[in-house]
Amino acid sequence: MITTALTELLGIRVPVVQGGMQWVGKPPLPAAVSNAGGLGLITALTQPNPEALRTVIRETRVATDKPFGVNLTILPSINPPDYEGFARVAVEEGVKIFETAGNNPGKLIEFFKSHGCIVIHKCTTIRHAKSAERLGVDVVSIDGFECAGHPGEEDIGGLVLLARAAQELKIPYIASGGIGDGRGLAACLALGAAGVNMGTRFMCTVESPIHQNIKEKIVASTEYDTTHIFRTLNNTSRVFKNAVSQQVVAIERRPGGAKFEDVRDLVAGARGRIVFENGDPDYGIWTAGLVLGLIKDIPTCEELLSRIEREAEEIIQGMAKLVKAKAKL
Ligand SMILES: Cc1cc2nc3c(=O)[nH]c(=O)nc-3n(C[C@H](O)[C@H](O)[C@H](O)COP(=O)(O)O)c2cc1C
Repeated sequence: MITTALTELLGIRVPVVQGGMQWVGKPPLPAAVSNAGGLGLITALTQPNPEALRTVIRETRVATDKPFGVNLTILPSINPPDYEGFARVAVEEGVKIFETAGNNPGKLIEFFKSHGCIVIHKCTTIRHAKSAERLGVDVVSIDGFECAGHPGEEDIGGLVLLARAAQELKIPYIASGGIGDGRGLAACLALGAAGVNMGTRFMCTVESPIHQNIKEKIVASTEYDTTHIFRTLNNTSRVFKNAVSQQVVAIERRPGGAKFEDVRDLVAGARGRIVFENGDPDYGIWTAGLVLGLIKDIPTCEELLSRIEREAEEIIQGMAKLVKAKAKL
């Protein structure tokens, strides 16, 4: 067993968190991850309103008696969702662990901490990690350049970002972005992380509630199959490279650039959701990370987490053998 500050704080067996995932973080996945010894997270904004979140929290509780949490992502939006309502309902339902992500999480963090909850805040820079630490979060989850979704605009890979976190942070941190196996977990622990957060790898499991075609597409893909959209709009997002995302990039590269209105229809969230429902990988934009290159199968969450745990233990024990006592002269 690998015991870290994360396993002890959350009461889990394996130091692996399943990050919030829009349209994917529905009860079967977080329940399976938690049952397998990791931390599963329901994605609040996948639900249309706070009462629907209440229902899925109850469903998840029926499916697992292990700890699970809720992700609440603050999005740049003209008509913001009812964040306070989602947060209140989750707390009313007895959820004790939250992953927050996005800008200006201060009010939400304060609310969760005032109700005695554990908060993991996901961010992409050391500056934001330190400000989350000051706001009183328990753990920061640091998304490197490799990650699916929003890597920020600074393009710092996990190797440097995690070592910088070790230099700067007092609270535990977990590594996110590009992790899919025990080698990744062992490497992140070596970089001082208390565990890892995975998104894309969990999309491609038996219990992930997306169409089988998309899981098979992930297995058939490589690390060259993602692209960045919204680079020129300062809201970079790493997504699967398909006809639609390549069209968005082409529009962004036009002389004079692009405004959001120019790509709005192409990037509509509803089209991305339909990709996962009907299994057509070219129907819309869908999020995926460089870790695509490491994914070769569709295991159950139990198989995946036991394998990651076993591989990481073997690697850590193997590395200890590299250290030899100096021969005495
Ligand atoms: C399909 C998908 C949807 C995602 N949606 C969200 C989201 O709504 N909120 C969030 O904080 N992160 C979201 N993420 C990011 C993940 O939580 C996680 O940080 C990221 O996937 C880590 O990189 P990896 O995919 O290389 O493991 C999403 C990732 C994927 C693959």
